[in-house]
Amino acid sequence: MPTKTIIEPFRIKSVEPIRWTTREQREELLRAAHYNLFLLPADDVLIDLLTDSGTGAMSTHQWAAVMEGDESYAGSKSFERFRLSVQDIFGYQHVIPTHQGRAAERILFSVACKKGDVVPNNTHFDTTRANVEFVGAEAVDLPLPESRKPSTRLPFKGNMDVAGLEALIARVGRERVPLVMLTVTNNSGGGQPVSMENARAVSAVCRRHRIPLYFDACRFAENAYFIKLREGGYKSKTPKQIAQDMFSLGDGCTMSAKKDGMANIGGFLCTNDDVLARQEKDLLILTEGYPTYGGLAGRDLEAIAVGVQEALEEDYLRYRIASTAYLGNHLSDQGVPIVEPPGGHAIYLDARAFLSQIPLDQYPGVALAAELYLEGGIRSVEIGRLMFADAAKMDLVRLAIPRRVYTQSHIDYVVEMILRVWQRRQDIKGMRVTYEAPFLRHFTAHLEPVT
Ligand SMILES: Cc1ncc(COP(=O)(O)O)c(C=O)c1O
Repeated sequence: MPTKTIIEPFRIKSVEPIRWTTREQREELLRAAHYNLFLLPADDVLIDLLTDSGTGAMSTHQWAAVMEGDESYAGSKSFERFRLSVQDIFGYQHVIPTHQGRAAERILFSVACKKGDVVPNNTHFDTTRANVEFVGAEAVDLPLPESRKPSTRLPFKGNMDVAGLEALIARVGRERVPLVMLTVTNNSGGGQPVSMENARAVSAVCRRHRIPLYFDACRFAENAYFIKLREGGYKSKTPKQIAQDMFSLGDGCTMSAKKDGMANIGGFLCTNDDVLARQEKDLLILTEGYPTYGGLAGRDLEAIAVGVQEALEEDYLRYRIASTAYLGNHLSDQGVPIVEPPGGHAIYLDARAFLSQIPLDQYPGVALAAELYLEGGIRSVEIGRLMFADAAKMDLVRLAIPRRVYTQSHIDYVVEMILRVWQRRQDIKGMRVTYEAPFLRHFTAHLEPVT
């Protein structure tokens, strides 16, 4: 009989202390950080849910592999192990290592796109959108229309709107669409999975129009596990078989190994296109490094080679998905508005519903994230108007859960602090921006409370 309690499937061998601060200290620290949690020193954060990117704990196997790192400039054994491990899962012909996901994006879009092109995606992540726009192309989000409502519960709320994709290609013309991207799981759309059925339908549209399909594969293992749990016909398949099936529908991918690569740094770009691969490697040499290391140390390649396989282990995925749902369910049971159903790597608070008294141009998401820090030293991130300006369809606060880092009692504490903020939500004020950079402004913006 399956057990009711799902435990962390690991023992803790090395610990990292975290530091308490007082409410008065946090008020001062937040003022000094201009109410932008990116600008806080990490040492002043108790529970850091800013991102699940690069913040995971590596396994003993990964650390052992790190010691096997071959730091040869060209043709290292570590690259071979990395390439074989990635190809085993992703199946693409060319594997190009990069220092992280956005480097893979920059290289792909620089080579494949030009001014005036249009790139459809279920939902672009912020760096993906910025890299598309940086080469003068237009980034178009095509989520399911019903997914825009945070409270709607759908098993595959991350799916792409296939009819919308067809209509877009018909409107702008196939020549202006150099590639289609599918982000698994759909991070900006609430960490929601994409079904195999949807990936198959998107792939069929792409094949019909002879447009390459690329996956933004950051959370491919979590997505595969959701398919196993929720989609008919996949119960008896392993997450690895499911991932392999999904990638066989595409022509390449970009990947940040800081997520389901279970590594602290790294990424890669894959393609089946020989001509594109040559151009991509040339650009890689210019800005990242030689194609057998691509801006990474041999030891990083080793950690990723082990990590992508560990991310697909069922014990790990069962715990990962259950612990994220644990946080989400404890909040929604008390009436806290979250994006439903809980996603894979994060819980998203619906800041518009949480702080309904705050006008949208006063950044309810930023105000809520600031309050979570003041209340309990918790760092989260706004995904809304500050991040996407007028393109924002929702104002969310993401509580991203680092992999294999926090235990259930940490999460219980987070729930307690959020419920305290929920009790006094009526007293919370909006924010105004006092400084912003020309792009990706949320990383460095300064804000202040509206009095
Ligand atoms: C869906 C998605 N794509 C791309 C990226 C960019 O990856 P990186 O931060 O490694 O550059 C991220 C990072 O959070 C992401 O979540």
